[in-house]
Amino acid sequence: MSEEVFISPRKHGRIAVLISGRGSNFTRIHDAVRDGRIDAEIGLVFSNREGAAGLEIARERGLETIFLNPRLYPEKEDYDREILREIRKRGIDLVCLAGYMKVLCPMFCREYRNRAMNIHPALLPAFPGLNVQRGAIDWGVRVSGCTVHFVAPEVDRGPIILQAAVPVLPDDTEETLAARILVEEHKIYPEAVRLYFEGRLEVRGRRVRIRD
Ligand code: GRF
Repeated sequence: MSEEVFISPRKHGRIAVLISGRGSNFTRIHDAVRDGRIDAEIGLVFSNREGAAGLEIARERGLETIFLNPRLYPEKEDYDREILREIRKRGIDLVCLAGYMKVLCPMFCREYRNRAMNIHPALLPAFPGLNVQRGAIDWGVRVSGCTVHFVAPEVDRGPIILQAAVPVLPDDTEETLAARILVEEHKIYPEAVRLYFEGRLEVRGRRVRIRD
């Protein structure tokens, strides 16, 4: 059986960023768009939280924003279907989850297979899920870091695109470790998006090759 191969499109793309909070990763992706490192535009910044600080930053930067109240959608699938509708309407090529604190349902993940990325503040597959810095410190690992990966229905399990390692220091608290990891997140997330629209990400099964 021949293996399915996906190669990211080389094009001027349209990005939707999904956030729930401060939006520092979104901001770095937008910085890279603005200074021409990423050949794309941000067509939508979406949040499930009305007060997300990142939404305010997006408005100040003149980007289109949408907040949808999840409480108005008792069925999670309906909520995600609504997001999909907004994304489709805008011809979005790539969805970037950047501190988006809701799990996308399988229907969304299937439609945006190889077209949605997430950033996670640990070296996956170690420490998936929440409270990951606490987990890394309590486990006693010497090295943690961050991972940009494609989104799959299994949370934090999609093909890995880029990772950066960060030492865990003896006196680290969750906050100091998170801050050191965030510095690396801000480098690898824009880099992964850049590679995507340069047509350089090749996905075979779990493995992502970066083409020259
Ligand atoms: C980041 O640490 C990211 O890895 C995690 O949530 C945090 C979001 O931060 N998924 P920000 O909203 O991008 O500042």
